[in-house]
Amino acid sequence: MKFFIDTADVSEIKDLSSSGFLDGVTTNPSLIKKSGRNINEVIAEICDIVPGPVSAEVAATNYNDMIAEAQVLKKIAKNVTIKVPLTWDGLKACRTLRDEDVLVNVTLCFSASQALLAAKSGATFISPFVGRLDDIGLDGMDLISDICTIYSNYPNLNTEVLVASIRSPKHVIEAAKMGADIVTLPPNVLKQLISHPLTDNGLKAFLEDWKMTGQSIT
Ligand code: G3P
Repeated sequence: MKFFIDTADVSEIKDLSSSGFLDGVTTNPSLIKKSGRNINEVIAEICDIVPGPVSAEVAATNYNDMIAEAQVLKKIAKNVTIKVPLTWDGLKACRTLRDEDVLVNVTLCFSASQALLAAKSGATFISPFVGRLDDIGLDGMDLISDICTIYSNYPNLNTEVLVASIRSPKHVIEAAKMGADIVTLPPNVLKQLISHPLTDNGLKAFLEDWKMTGQSIT
């Protein structure tokens, strides 16, 4: 399973990239706004730090303008992935960009039928938003299960399932059990994945006992 980080905060990405866990980065217009940075500059910096796919989202809603924006974004770096919304124009743009061998992430997916259409449009990644489905009283992970089943029924569909809008480590573990290809993690969830009170307490006890031995390994 690949781990992407869902942020446009360059210092956070630098910090986490040293872990060796980061396989890619996803951004969206809200995350760019939060960064307070220019999209072209911030995406260029992120692409320098992380060699894997870095999603940069178009802001246009019609096909021609999406393609014009994608032409600008894709020139930033080889690993830029163009993120398009799951609309007719977005899917049409996806097909055009894929025909040019550009990586495409189709975002704002909330149903299995949408995911099927994205795969048929040649999407590199489909981004179903699990947290936002949970927020309205549905079960986001049911959607991941459906998409994984559908995609595995048709091996000629090569779209990778990129689980987005993740709120907790539970989403990550459930996605891994279902065989989802990628999770894009908010930095706080990535940090939560390692945390366990028994690890902290156990280490504390080991260090106290070690101190009492009076020994030194080096
Ligand atoms: O990048 C898309 C997605 O991960 C957004 O998450 O928390 O705004 O629902 P969220």
